[in-house]
Amino acid sequence: MQQCGTCHSLNPADPPRQGPLLAGVYGRKPGSVAGFQYSPGYAKADFVWDDAHLDPYLTNPQAIISDSFMLYRQRNSDVRKAIIAFLKDQK
Ligand code: HEC
Repeated sequence: MQQCGTCHSLNPADPPRQGPLLAGVYGRKPGSVAGFQYSPGYAKADFVWDDAHLDPYLTNPQAIISDSFMLYRQRNSDVRKAIIAFLKDQK
């Protein structure tokens, strides 16, 4: 996924990027990639990444995790849907 790839990798063998590894992120609790320095809000989040949370998160990360410093917003709901379907496949 090109729009995310500057900051996120899907391959654990890649060197660290600005954002955490996204392989297996669907269904996982926020902030669970070991060794990645998340904003404190991720550890406090009490949900798993699913459609209901990823859709508003990709629209505006700070609406879901208020101290997130992820600089990305996707206003197009069809694009968000495609991104979420893609993430679901990355086990
Ligand atoms: C400009 C860099 C950047 C881009 C582009 C970006 N992200 Fe992020 N993302 C981050 C950072 C940084 C964090 C961690 C934020 C924090 O700790 O405050 C993050 C966190 C996340 C998380 C939470 C992961 C977890 O382990 O809890 C998800 C899910 C996510 N991003 C998905 C995406 C997707 C999908 C895209 C592309 C559509 C994307 N991001 C594009 C930088 C980026």
